[in-house]
Amino acid sequence: MIKRAILGAGILAAGMWGASSSASAESLTMYCGVDEVWCQQTARAFEEKTGITVDMTRKSAGEIYAQLRAEAANPKGDIWWGGTGDPHLQAAEEGLTEEYKSPLLDQLQPWAIKQAETSGHRTVGIYSGALGFGYNKDLLAKNNLPEPKCWADLTKPEYKGHIQVANPNSSGTAYNMLATIVQLFGEDKGFEYLKALHKNVNQYTKSGSAPIKAAGLGETTIGIVFIHDAVSQVVAGFPIVPVTPCEGTGYEIGSESIIKGARNMEAAKKFYDWALEADVQSTAQDAGSFQVPSNKAAKTSDKAPDLAAIKLIDYDFKKYGSSEERKRLLKKWDEEVASLPQ
Ligand code: G6P
Repeated sequence: MIKRAILGAGILAAGMWGASSSASAESLTMYCGVDEVWCQQTARAFEEKTGITVDMTRKSAGEIYAQLRAEAANPKGDIWWGGTGDPHLQAAEEGLTEEYKSPLLDQLQPWAIKQAETSGHRTVGIYSGALGFGYNKDLLAKNNLPEPKCWADLTKPEYKGHIQVANPNSSGTAYNMLATIVQLFGEDKGFEYLKALHKNVNQYTKSGSAPIKAAGLGETTIGIVFIHDAVSQVVAGFPIVPVTPCEGTGYEIGSESIIKGARNMEAAKKFYDWALEADVQSTAQDAGSFQVPSNKAAKTSDKAPDLAAIKLIDYDFKKYGSSEERKRLLKKWDEEVASLPQ
């Protein structure tokens, strides 16, 4: 009798152990490319919804792309969520991300579906935002500087030392700016512009939104960022004025991708679909992020820049999302712009 009782107890314990270990067995390693606050909110919300433990790291898009390349033989991450669409397309082209068609695809805006189709369904659009800049109005007045309204203004000598922008090698925002300027002015004139701008830049930051956070704190006057990042600073109470450049501008298709060979593939697919849901995308504004969501039924904050009112270039995502073009442009920027004295 005792033997059976002990055996029974053992099975019960095993059952209990089994139950608890299977509940915590599911985990997800998330590389996050948007603002830290939104990354944290998203990771916690997914955990609450599914009981899956999320190990989240926030990095810039260029850094995550480099990490996927470095880990390709032994992937550590499961999902890459957020960050500009160009490096997601480059990773897709290099087979670093998993082909997966979400059942929610038909709920998305055409531009989000096009991002998926361009990549052979190795990524998908989750949000969009226009590129521009913002300035600290108190610092502008204090330095008797004219209000910058156009890309061309930023190369004027009076702004020397007053501008910050990220480094296009690490930041998706800055790569998007590099590709935008080349498409807006042509390659030769575009690089002439970037060399002139270089004279006015006091720092190339690692992260794309850092320049406008620095402007908010009065550490620089002008930050070149996505306009919604400047709006975030306004909403947070900083003396920032967002600017939509008069010549027109580029935009991003923020994306998400499942990492090729993900160890937690089922959890990654669960997250991928969950992050496309309208009510999930509608919470961006709770984290102080004002991108335009990709689910047609998601709520866009009334503070989000109205993309329909902005002169947007016909950004060639296929071309500037190719690894070949990325390598060529970044090499040219390193050699012809970053190397110049300031
Ligand atoms: C910010 C923006 C996002 C953008 C991201 C790119 O988080 O709000 O819209 O996708 O920057 O980050 P990065 O550091 O790569 O420029």
